[in-house]
Amino acid sequence: MTAGLIPRRRFLQTAFGVSGLAFLGSRPLRAASRQTSVRDFELRLEPSTAPLLGAQDPKVNVWAFNGLVPGPEIRVRQGERVRIVAINNLDRETTVHWHGLRVPNAQDGVPYLTQKPIAPGARHVYEFDCLDAGTFWYHPHLGSPEQVGRGLYGAFIVDEANPPRVDRDLTWVLDDWRVTKSGQLSDDFANRHDMTHGGQLGNIVTLNGTEPSPLQLRRGERLRIRLINAANARIFALSFRGHDPRIIAYDGQPVQPHAPVGGRVVLAPAMRVDVMLDATADSSQSYTLRDTYYRRESYEFLDIEYDKAPLRRDPLPDSITLAANPLTEPNLAKAELHEIRFEGGAMGRLHQARLDGRMLDLRELVRAGKAWAVNGVAANGHVHDPILTLRRGNTYRLTLVNDTAWPHPIHLHGHSFRVTKRNGTETELREWQDTVLIAPRESAEIVFVADNPGDWMFHCHILEHQDGGMMAVIRVA
Ligand code: C2O
Ligand code: CU
Repeated sequence: MTAGLIPRRRFLQTAFGVSGLAFLGSRPLRAASRQTSVRDFELRLEPSTAPLLGAQDPKVNVWAFNGLVPGPEIRVRQGERVRIVAINNLDRETTVHWHGLRVPNAQDGVPYLTQKPIAPGARHVYEFDCLDAGTFWYHPHLGSPEQVGRGLYGAFIVDEANPPRVDRDLTWVLDDWRVTKSGQLSDDFANRHDMTHGGQLGNIVTLNGTEPSPLQLRRGERLRIRLINAANARIFALSFRGHDPRIIAYDGQPVQPHAPVGGRVVLAPAMRVDVMLDATADSSQSYTLRDTYYRRESYEFLDIEYDKAPLRRDPLPDSITLAANPLTEPNLAKAELHEIRFEGGAMGRLHQARLDGRMLDLRELVRAGKAWAVNGVAANGHVHDPILTLRRGNTYRLTLVNDTAWPHPIHLHGHSFRVTKRNGTETELREWQDTVLIAPRESAEIVFVADNPGDWMFHCHILEHQDGGMMAVIRVA
């Protein structure tokens, strides 16, 4: 998976660190005595082919990072600094966004808002510290329905200083694709029907860029499975038949380990879930991992098979709880409350919305390629007047109201937030997330400290909805 990556480790003896020591006499500061390492990576965005349909079938034309779907896994340790050169070998402009990583605004990869797009043939250098351990991912943020839809994405894993003990640590990037009879990707990206309905749902699903193959287990072994949903629009609800998985993190952020609600691990686009799986089932049987999100279309995602030789008799006794990341705890007593409404789409109640400063009715909006609005405004492109300006350091409670007939995974850049309420009722786990799935007509309350200054995108991660106007800017000043 890491072929083509150049993880050259570079140690920088900064002048600052050395002179800092001089002032400290015999008690060196930890930060000053630690060497600062920068990990260098190179990511090329380029046309390629990938065995999406399985090894026996002809490869499919895709766009991919370093020729691979998913792109190379970037893997670093918590606290490390990365320097990533993105080289655009596509025939159009692009950017790279580091989804879920709390990076400085200028490194966020949003065209025009935080950087100039990377022109064909050009390159752009991103550099930032990896503050949080966890499961993250990267993808372009320009022409997203097509660029991500053609295969441009990859996993970005930040390892904990002391990761929990496991036998295997797997990254599973899930995606679906719309493949035509010719065996190639349908090129009707962001078409009107997908845009106004549930987004682009494909007709094949892949695991790490190919047909899922059986998961081979040995009795007694413990797996950490990092699920990443890289699909444009498909929501997955996975049940591990015969097993008792525990969710230990959402969107890279640790959560109190718990069994998935209703036995299903639900992942909307852009969401990540880290699952701990102990292989404790009867090893003479085989099992299935089923996806049952869409009621009329449930299917077997993959088979789970046991090896004859057990690994150990009893599951590992070690704790599966992850250490918290350095997020600032919200101060609820002083939180300021705002409501944000998401409207539009087929079977919705949206009659008109503002687009580029003009009030349009729904029919005119759809003609302009839009169908969704955030607080009455349909976004065109990435640069907007902020719907909210937050004061740096303050805590905010945002009530997100989904007044549409469709589910929406809503993503905020630059921050993680606690999901504190659903339909007005307190959540049990107050989980940290960066993308919250809100069911039709449901509301969710998110709470966070606005501690990362800049203009941040706030949008639905069903990429056809984002493209269709369901996007806004939140400013932290
Ligand atoms: Cu996954 Cu605005 O991003
Ligand atoms: Cu949406």
